[in-house]
Amino acid sequence: MKILITAELPFDVEAYLKGNEVDYNKGKPLSPKELMKRAKDVDAVISMLSDKIDKDFLASCENLKVVANYAVGYNNIDVQTATEKGVVVCNTPDVLTQTTAELGFTLMMAAARRLPQSEQFTRNKKFKGWKPDLFLGMDLFGKTIGIFGFGRIGQAVAKMASGFNMNIVYNSRSKKTQAELLTGATKVSFEDMVRKSDFVVITAPATEETKHKFTLETFKQMKSSAVVVNIGRGEIIKEKDLVTALQNNMIFSAGLDVYEFEPKIDEGLFKLDNVVLAPHIGSGSYATREAMAKLCCDSVLKVYKGETPKNIV
Ligand code: NAP
Ligand code: GLV
Ligand code: GLV
Repeated sequence: MKILITAELPFDVEAYLKGNEVDYNKGKPLSPKELMKRAKDVDAVISMLSDKIDKDFLASCENLKVVANYAVGYNNIDVQTATEKGVVVCNTPDVLTQTTAELGFTLMMAAARRLPQSEQFTRNKKFKGWKPDLFLGMDLFGKTIGIFGFGRIGQAVAKMASGFNMNIVYNSRSKKTQAELLTGATKVSFEDMVRKSDFVVITAPATEETKHKFTLETFKQMKSSAVVVNIGRGEIIKEKDLVTALQNNMIFSAGLDVYEFEPKIDEGLFKLDNVVLAPHIGSGSYATREAMAKLCCDSVLKVYKGETPKNIV
């Protein structure tokens, strides 16, 4: 089997895939043109979320049978065209759920307690003694958390929030009865979630429906003490509008792992001290990135053998 892996993974994939012909890109990210060239005659591609697996790409592949995306989100892949061409698309659900939820909580707490700003202050030797009003922030305990997109990651965030004695509401298209029982969460309308929450955590996928779900109008409806965290996808928030909201203290702060025009980040965000910026590291623990690599390898091997992996999109 001929497999293209588009970026170097923190796991010995070559040993794991021994016996197969592996074209392993350990250099710079591949441009769309290079990606097409190198995938022309491969049976499988292990792709990154930054690779565009679109119509043109799929049309240029002659032997492609499976694309295993090294991510749970698959908005970089034209799944419909792939399916029409008989190309199986796999992703990495479950193995990254807790790790990503933990980053969500990390961002939430860091944004609520202004951790990067106070760390910077201390590192810059500005700490001259304890003060009653030094870097005051927001409590989580007893507050309301609104989770937008109540799937695997959203529900994991809810479980953590219940340990903080938070009141949990969520918005997704369908009611999640089982998760409600497990976490005590309640389904509310998008508007209610936005108005009532002290913390809003976005864990939805990027789709036509979720694109720009959060605009200036949304931030205007939020509490001025609200903290917004995005660990879903950047395009769910209209980034320019978030900058305006933060500049005008319409909300207290934000914690972001994903960006609308990734890897480009709105210059306005860099100038603000009420936002915590992470470079899309949601699933980035050693153990999880290894588990994701194994899952991608297993997925391509299974499809090649004619088996059906559980993690087909
Ligand atoms: P999941 O289990 O499929 O959960 C996504 C949830 O979003 C679903 O339960 C779905 O529920 C809900 N949803 C979909 N469309 C919606 C809409 N229009 N309005 C409200 N809710 C909507 O996926 P997951 O494993 O939790 O991952 C979620 C997303 O997180 C991924 O797609 C990816 O973009 C992102 N992610 C980011 C990182 C990172 O590094 N920051 C890491 C992993 C994942 P309904 O169908 O009932 O609406
Ligand atoms: C990361 O963003 C993922 O979708 O796994
Ligand atoms: C703070 O350090 C306290 O003891 O309250």
